[in-house]
Amino acid sequence: MTTAQLRTLIVDSDEMSREVLRSKVQRAGLLVDLERPHGLVAQQTIQEMEPDLLFVAIEQPLQRALQTVDFARAIVPDATIVAYTADWSPMVERRLMQSGVNDFLHGNISSSQVSAVIDRALRKAAASTVPAPADTGARVIAVVGQKGGIGKTTTSTNLAAAIAQGGRQSVLLIDLDTRFGDVAIMMDIAAEYTVSEVAREVEGLDRETFRKLLLRHDSGACILPAPRDYRSWLSCSPEQIQDLVRFAAGMFDVVILDTPGTFNDVVAAAVGVADRVVVVTSSELSSLKNTALLLEHFSLKGLAEEQVIVTLIHGHDQEGPDRADVEFAIGHAVDHEVPFDRNVRKATQLGAPVVTWRASSPAAVVFARIAAHAAGSPDSLNALPDAAVRRRFFGVFGSRKATSHDPERREIAV
Ligand SMILES: Nc1ncnc2c1ncn2[C@@H]1O[C@H](COP(=O)(O)OP(=O)(O)OP(=O)(O)O)[C@@H](O)[C@H]1O
Ligand SMILES: [Mg+2]
Repeated sequence: MTTAQLRTLIVDSDEMSREVLRSKVQRAGLLVDLERPHGLVAQQTIQEMEPDLLFVAIEQPLQRALQTVDFARAIVPDATIVAYTADWSPMVERRLMQSGVNDFLHGNISSSQVSAVIDRALRKAAASTVPAPADTGARVIAVVGQKGGIGKTTTSTNLAAAIAQGGRQSVLLIDLDTRFGDVAIMMDIAAEYTVSEVAREVEGLDRETFRKLLLRHDSGACILPAPRDYRSWLSCSPEQIQDLVRFAAGMFDVVILDTPGTFNDVVAAAVGVADRVVVVTSSELSSLKNTALLLEHFSLKGLAEEQVIVTLIHGHDQEGPDRADVEFAIGHAVDHEVPFDRNVRKATQLGAPVVTWRASSPAAVVFARIAAHAAGSPDSLNALPDAAVRRRFFGVFGSRKATSHDPERREIAV
């Protein structure tokens, strides 16, 4: 990939500030394709152009600028988003990191900073065009979901414990949640070394040292926790994370990746090396809309039908849409349905996966089934009994494809 192939957009309502940035970008050897002020026109351009590199000015009104970032992250999840501002504030930085920006430039922005972000964008764009499946015998399972609090970490920890306590397969759970990183808490263990430190050193790592850095859970699963400070994530690249996962996959039978509720480059990296992707959704409207978008994205990225395992989790004791409605809304069959189960809550409070704490509880039984499905053969019979039929009914993966001109997609993303 060369700079010429990098579609670049600047969103900035201030003409002068736009000009200053444009000249720095051009000095770094990259032509800016389009420039837009914040607001609807910027959103429309993002949809139509699907930029690889997007510079977003963080200016007043702040809400509007943040809306541009959130919109871009949903529409072009693989793009490099660079936020920039003259005024730095910790609150804004934190919010931007949560939105999944790749870089945040503030103060007097130097040309070398701009060159560095362009280099990173080039590497990222090149990596995303080459699918990087794990090339070892291990099965890498990424657990993803486009919303917070829907049960991703509950699923990851239960899958890890269920597979490990079976005793036949070695398991490593890597916490890639760039925001909250709850795995260590949910499994009641204290972190010493974390993903970002290990990923930074992955090149010189040997198996023995790596094993010593890992935590061990009572179930037998090994854990590599997330750093508590979100800034640590900035010190390792998505490529280093992928290398770390591949390295781990050479040592363990199964590697499970827990991820945050926002699609950022770490999630893209996780999905890029995964053999299976467990897509977690709740039955809430906002979760369903985001799940539909996510499934569409996976379909466009060429993920095979059997790689994707859709799991509906009823994390609340409230009436909601049933499975058929959920399938209609996301345009995809639901492979597993985890019922609401107070034992899960209790287990979470005790710092134990429900599959080890109360293996016979309704949710634990389903988590064990998902574990067998995800770590087993592609045509596993562990999904809901009629899942294969329902998958055929929905046709090829992601049959209800919202296009970028689909009004509903616009509604989802805004
Ligand atoms: N089947 C279930 N029944 C009852 N409670 C559940 C169930 N599944 C998950 N929960 C509860 O939902 C809460 C959120 O779960 P979890 O932390 O796994 O979500 P998450 O998607 O990882 O969130 P985040 O994006 O914030 O990391 C937890 O308190 C968990 O105990
Ligand atoms: Mg989580």
